Amino acid sequence: MVSLDFERKKVQKEWLLYNFKINKKMAVLEHLTSQQAMDLENKYGAHNYHPLPVVLSKGDGVYVWDVEGKKYYDFLSAYSAVNQGHCHPKIVGAMTQQAQTLTLTSRAFYNDMLGKFEKYATETFHFDKLLPMNTGAEAVETALKLCRKWAYEVKGIDENEAEIIVCENNFHGRTTTIISFSNDAVARKNFGPYTKGFIKIEYDNLKALEDVLNSNKNVAGFLVEPIQGEAGVYVPSEGYLAAAKALCEKHNVLFIADEVQTGIGRTGRLLATCGNCSCVDKHCSGTPK
Ligand SMILES: Cc1ncc(COP(=O)(O)O)c(C=O)c1O
Repeated sequence: MVSLDFERKKVQKEWLLYNFKINKKMAVLEHLTSQQAMDLENKYGAHNYHPLPVVLSKGDGVYVWDVEGKKYYDFLSAYSAVNQGHCHPKIVGAMTQQAQTLTLTSRAFYNDMLGKFEKYATETFHFDKLLPMNTGAEAVETALKLCRKWAYEVKGIDENEAEIIVCENNFHGRTTTIISFSNDAVARKNFGPYTKGFIKIEYDNLKALEDVLNSNKNVAGFLVEPIQGEAGVYVPSEGYLAAAKALCEKHNVLFIADEVQTGIGRTGRLLATCGNCSCVDKHCSGTPK
């Protein structure tokens, strides 16, 4: 017992000392000017992005502040990831409480929260099942894999022959497979060889979709943004999505809507596809409450 107590105190002491050293180091980093912060990122960070020269250090609702204390309206909201506003007390409260209760479980175990979330989300969106993801690109990758698996195991397409139709000027993320069917030269340059199995057609062109569906029996899915984002916010013609979905159903092809930018509630509906399909669910036709 004595030696256990001794060991515990020793570990606690070491931990305090470690924290003290870290805090001392961090204190040096605390009061940076905008220029110093940018210089640090430029020197030590990988240059995979080109941010605007504003160094943010605080946010509250619609406002953000830079390190010099200048206040801004945040019209970008992390490309919609913080549409609810910065540091929303309810969200921060839930995050803090959960982190203090159980920080993380791997999928090796069940936990008491995931099922509740899955039930809530599937009922809200009226989907059969849900698979949570960390990023949009992962969601698209998963949809592509699911689509191919369905093509081989259910539709009966010969192995490795499945094709997925995508649209010109799409943006679905930056993974190797996704950039394989991108038009963006910058996203593609020097990242080849690319993944095969995609057919590109013009966005908002039903005839182009129909032509491929009529002529190619190996089509497994059609991947589309309900409103193209990176292409320059391109809203398709009235009825395009519903007609595209109907064509896919007619040809036994999966219709995959990438709502990473358009959901949730960003287009006046819960999802941009709501009201554009044959779904009769009450959530799918009106504006979100
Ligand atoms: C339509 C669309 N799909 C996918 C993505 C990729 O999301 P992420 O950057 O989280 O991987 C984006 C990102 O902006 C997007 O606009």
